[in-house]
Amino acid sequence: MKKGQLIELPIHGTAFKGKGVGRYEERAVFVKGAVPGDVVKARIIKKKKSFLEAKLLEIIEASEDRITPKCQHAGVCGGCSWQQVPYEKQLAYKRQQVEDHIRRIGKCDTLVNDTLPCEQPFYYRNKMEYSFSPRRWLSDDEIHREEFVDDSGFAAGLHAPGRFDKILNLHECHLQDPISFRLLDFVRNYALKHNIEAFDTFEKTGFFRHLVIRTSYHTSDLMVNLVCYYEDQGIIEDLYAKMMEQFPSITTFIISINDQPNPTATGRYQFVLHGSGHIEDHIGPYRFTIDPKAFFQTNTAQAEALYSVVADFADIQPADVVYDLYCGVGTLSLYLSKQASKVVGIELVDEAIENARINASKNGVEHAFFVKGDMKDTFNETLIQQYGHPNVLITDPPRAGMHPDVITQLLDLKAPKIIYVSCDSSTLARDLALLSEAYSIDAIQPVDMFPQTYHIETVAALTLKL
Ligand SMILES: C[S@@+](CC[C@H](N)C(=O)[O-])C[C@H]1O[C@@H](n2cnc3c(N)ncnc32)[C@H](O)[C@@H]1O
Repeated sequence: MKKGQLIELPIHGTAFKGKGVGRYEERAVFVKGAVPGDVVKARIIKKKKSFLEAKLLEIIEASEDRITPKCQHAGVCGGCSWQQVPYEKQLAYKRQQVEDHIRRIGKCDTLVNDTLPCEQPFYYRNKMEYSFSPRRWLSDDEIHREEFVDDSGFAAGLHAPGRFDKILNLHECHLQDPISFRLLDFVRNYALKHNIEAFDTFEKTGFFRHLVIRTSYHTSDLMVNLVCYYEDQGIIEDLYAKMMEQFPSITTFIISINDQPNPTATGRYQFVLHGSGHIEDHIGPYRFTIDPKAFFQTNTAQAEALYSVVADFADIQPADVVYDLYCGVGTLSLYLSKQASKVVGIELVDEAIENARINASKNGVEHAFFVKGDMKDTFNETLIQQYGHPNVLITDPPRAGMHPDVITQLLDLKAPKIIYVSCDSSTLARDLALLSEAYSIDAIQPVDMFPQTYHIETVAALTLKL
């Protein structure tokens, strides 16, 4: 068996990042784009001692679970990887993925509940970050054509998986409110009509870099944030006037200038052409001001479902002191504040802490305190002495999970209850294995925040062993 070899195999399960998994000569084989029930022909592209990775070439026998995806870009686009299977199957695969990690990495046998579904499996995102490029991503079919296929032009859409320089030129997208795609299409047509180029990462030329659209679930706010490479008042004023005429429902219009090489969709500076420069949305009874740079859960309706699982597991009592580690703009801290005597949020990003304080005051919450700092340094004895010993501790770290020093601090601190919210069940499982030295893992609830993708949020409830 060697790299480049063609193999045929049945797919029996799913693995990390939504890949189909089968077996070939006693080794697990991961095949992107394959789903359980398929029999596929694939080429080996990676060979390791215990597993192989193979590129899907042909579906010899299609799984009974396959459905026709809604979107023409499904399977190629980095956004959705599971549109080809019905939503109930996606939920089952996600639960299985969490269970595999919890058993194999976490060495834990706690029952994993069925995935909590999202009521709206399409058009659920409140934010889309589109990019522009003078080079478009070619499909497999185009790459393998005999004749030359030109990839130059103006591409407007999403990054091809794993590529910072190539953009899949989108003709449709079903993740955000349809107005979001219409806005993207408008900018693309405007650029083509007026011959204005997209930013070229290599040449450092061109004008258009990103278009970030934010919609509010509970209000009619609609934010357009156009990120350009340089300030050209002629283009900006004309495009702005035409967009406002075509889309009068835009409530705020921001121009961000990113004249740096970094590919982030925020600017070195920005100015507001219309409206307040932010939007407002609600989670539960709380109102949040969201500015273009702030993190906010991208599925507002499901964020409420997620927070309600956390609240159930936490079962906060009136005298409880609650810590919210990695608190972002304080959404979860404020959501839980009603039941607690005090809430303490800790977070690395300056703007997020500022937002959290503003949001607390806007909602009249006076017993929420927000501390800025890196968790591994800030979450220490001095802080605990200042704010009190936690009765309930919520932790919602980024994908990488918690730093080992934070785990050590948690084991020393011995809060009676920990609720761990995670967007990566493999790092969750790793951290649970360490915490199980002092904690029992009572419940594990996957919550689907991102239908059509392989991503899954998981909430775990831990109690201190006696
Ligand atoms: C998954 S988000 C959690 C957001 C929040 N719980 C919510 O529901 O909106 C993780 C947060 O951790 C913050 N973060 C990342 N690394 C950190 C660190 N080393 N110390 C403190 N906060 C950190 C990020 O800025 C981000 O706001």
